[in-house]
Amino acid sequence: MSALAAQIETGSVLDGLTAQPADPLLALIGLFRDDPRPGKIDMGVGVYRDAGGKTPVMAAVKAAEAFLLKDQQTKSYLGPEGDARFAELLTPIAFGEIDRAQLCGVQTPGGTGALRLGAELLARGRAGARVLVGTPTWPNHVPLMEAAGLQIVPFKHFDVATQTLRFEETLAAIKAATPGDVILLHGCCHNPTGADYTVDQWNILAPLIAERGLLPFVDLAYQGLGNGLDADAFGLRAVVAHNPQVLVAYSCDKNFGLYRERVGALFVVSDTAAVIQSNLLALARANWSMPPDHGAAIVRTILDSPELTASWRAELDAMRLRILSVREGAAGRDPALATLTQQTGMFSMLPLSPDQIRTLREVHAVYMAGSGRINVAGLTPDAIPAFAAAVAAVR
Ligand SMILES: Cc1ncc(COP(=O)(O)O)c(C=O)c1O
Repeated sequence: MSALAAQIETGSVLDGLTAQPADPLLALIGLFRDDPRPGKIDMGVGVYRDAGGKTPVMAAVKAAEAFLLKDQQTKSYLGPEGDARFAELLTPIAFGEIDRAQLCGVQTPGGTGALRLGAELLARGRAGARVLVGTPTWPNHVPLMEAAGLQIVPFKHFDVATQTLRFEETLAAIKAATPGDVILLHGCCHNPTGADYTVDQWNILAPLIAERGLLPFVDLAYQGLGNGLDADAFGLRAVVAHNPQVLVAYSCDKNFGLYRERVGALFVVSDTAAVIQSNLLALARANWSMPPDHGAAIVRTILDSPELTASWRAELDAMRLRILSVREGAAGRDPALATLTQQTGMFSMLPLSPDQIRTLREVHAVYMAGSGRINVAGLTPDAIPAFAAAVAAVR
């Protein structure tokens, strides 16, 4: 039988596929691009923008790239762990002081790659392991964990209508969990709500997670864009101080402005670090074999140089302060925006209905995700009054 005849008889494997919905944020980008109105405001896309509305390449990144261009001797393979010096230099920034004998880690394609590798490690350890996830959360968390074979147990992290973090519900979910369950935690700058645990709340959560025998998985994707590099790592460090095993998915894509270079790392704290590292290498090999080099080489070059590190820290701090100033500038202008100053990082989720969000777009040329998530860094100083007036008009 010819190959074509065989295919007609059995049907192609691919015939079972059904069309999947496009990412709604991509559709929003298209709508915004095609909108001819001069004062249009884009708060949909999830990248940092400066006061001029640009997503700049950081000065330290440019300098590191120039150095690499001149100095890099080879593009030969590095191995499934990626750039080991990159991961080593990132360690004190994320963890502060830590016993390195208890820590393993590999470079990954972005924070997404780190989350996926961590999810696969968990599924390899226990098929169908349960992961407690506070909602709303970054829209990719759930499909990513499920694709790796994990089971999601949702609990309410934040109530959008009242703009309150539901700490009691977090505690109740932890108390109701079965020992051995995993809990996914946003380390800082919660996406999409900006509602982070306070220091006092972390100090309650971290020992409770240990007491209940849960395994914390911390997603640290925005370190330095909330309250500063050390303050944003407070939760992670509290969790590590109390728990014998912790997974950490780290992204350098936002705090180094390297988005498309896909720079991240998965770290695991455990006294079985050597065994875990061997599993991470095997999983990485089976996924991407080796991560892309350029972005991690940039981060390594910056962190290996005191001058470039100082430049990076200063620019990151300026980005953080700009986000804060937008929050402060908008909060006083309408009651619906008042809680912007209680939230941190680039994102907040406004208590607006789908109709109000559509009117904002169609009538006022203000673009935000259909969930009401806004990227406050999408506001230039000039646009703050127009944005607040538009929100007031639709309420
Ligand atoms: C909470 C959270 N985790 C992880 C990621 C993934 O980051 P990356 O672009 O490095 O894959 C994002 C990206 O938006 C995020 O918001």
